[in-house]
Amino acid sequence: MFGKKKSTPQIDKDQLELIQNAQKRIKQKKRLYIHFVIFLIGAIFLIIANTLLGIGEDFKFFGYDWFLFAVLIWLFLLVYHVFNVFITHKFMGKAWEKQQLEKLVSKQQERIEKLKDGFVREEKLLAQTQAYNKAKSEKNKSELTIIVAAAENHAIGKGNQLIWHLSDDLKRFKNLTNGHHIIMGRKTFESFPKPLPNRTHIVITRQKHYKVPDGVVVVNTLADAIDASKNDTQPFIIGGGEIYKQAMDVADKIELTRVHHNFEADTFFPEIDTKVWTETANAFHKKDEHHDYEFSFITYERKQ
Ligand SMILES: NC(=O)c1ccc[n+]([C@@H]2O[C@H](COP(=O)([O-])OP(=O)(O)OC[C@H]3O[C@@H](n4cnc5c(N)ncnc54)[C@H](OP(=O)(O)O)[C@@H]3O)[C@@H](O)[C@H]2O)c1
Repeated sequence: MFGKKKSTPQIDKDQLELIQNAQKRIKQKKRLYIHFVIFLIGAIFLIIANTLLGIGEDFKFFGYDWFLFAVLIWLFLLVYHVFNVFITHKFMGKAWEKQQLEKLVSKQQERIEKLKDGFVREEKLLAQTQAYNKAKSEKNKSELTIIVAAAENHAIGKGNQLIWHLSDDLKRFKNLTNGHHIIMGRKTFESFPKPLPNRTHIVITRQKHYKVPDGVVVVNTLADAIDASKNDTQPFIIGGGEIYKQAMDVADKIELTRVHHNFEADTFFPEIDTKVWTETANAFHKKDEHHDYEFSFITYERKQ
């Protein structure tokens, strides 16, 4: 009762399959060998029957004795049998079928993975679009405003810095944005020596762990930036080039300072399409001791 339990030898599934396959092959070869022996005996018998015993002596095909054709047909069947055993069953047996099945399954799995990837991408896009639309509809309660100073050739910056210094323009920027949310790209944020006072900074970056001083909000998309400023009656998009480009489709207003000069630059403001935007205000400023260039404050509003 408490003696050692006898361990029965275990054969795994693969081994069993190999054994079964080997047994099958032996049987096939045995049958072929028997067929061959019967063929030899049968052929001799047919020859004797026709030539010595005279069976069907007068029966000829194309001038040849019938036994010749009987032996040839049988030989053909024997060759076919040989072909089956050594070619068809050997190379297209169970193992071959299994291999083909595995190939097929792995191809199907690849396809399924691709489809899955496609679905995930579509889902992400859909979620982003929904978030974007949601932010956009909520934003409609406030007036999302782009504020920018751009040259005649649309230049806005070089080497992550502004190109000119126009004190009235800076004053206007301060007055308009004071107390509001200011939305900007990570590079523009980094061009400031420190955050501007009395404004809520919203910095857009694709980085997941971007470090900022206390009070600065970091988001990963423009839609999230708009969402974060939804309680503000007039949030401002303050640049730079990449963010302006994306915000042109969602902004309600543009406060542009057009500097009447051409500058060398590496960052530009997009073209303002007058089919989409209406000019609602325009104030020209002359060059003076505080301003090296002439400029105009121009307001555009999105056409309804
Ligand atoms: N004249 C003006 O009125 C004015 C105003 C503002 C700025 N500027 C000038 O503009 C230049 C900077 O503009 P810029 O185009 O180089 O840079 P930017 O627009 O200020 O910032 C670009 C960065 O924003 C992030 N970003 C952009 N699109 C994003 C998205 N869809 N999702 C998530 N993050 C996104 C990326 O940050 P990560 O790389 O961290 O992912 C990207 O590198 C400077 O020269 C500046 O002085 C001029």
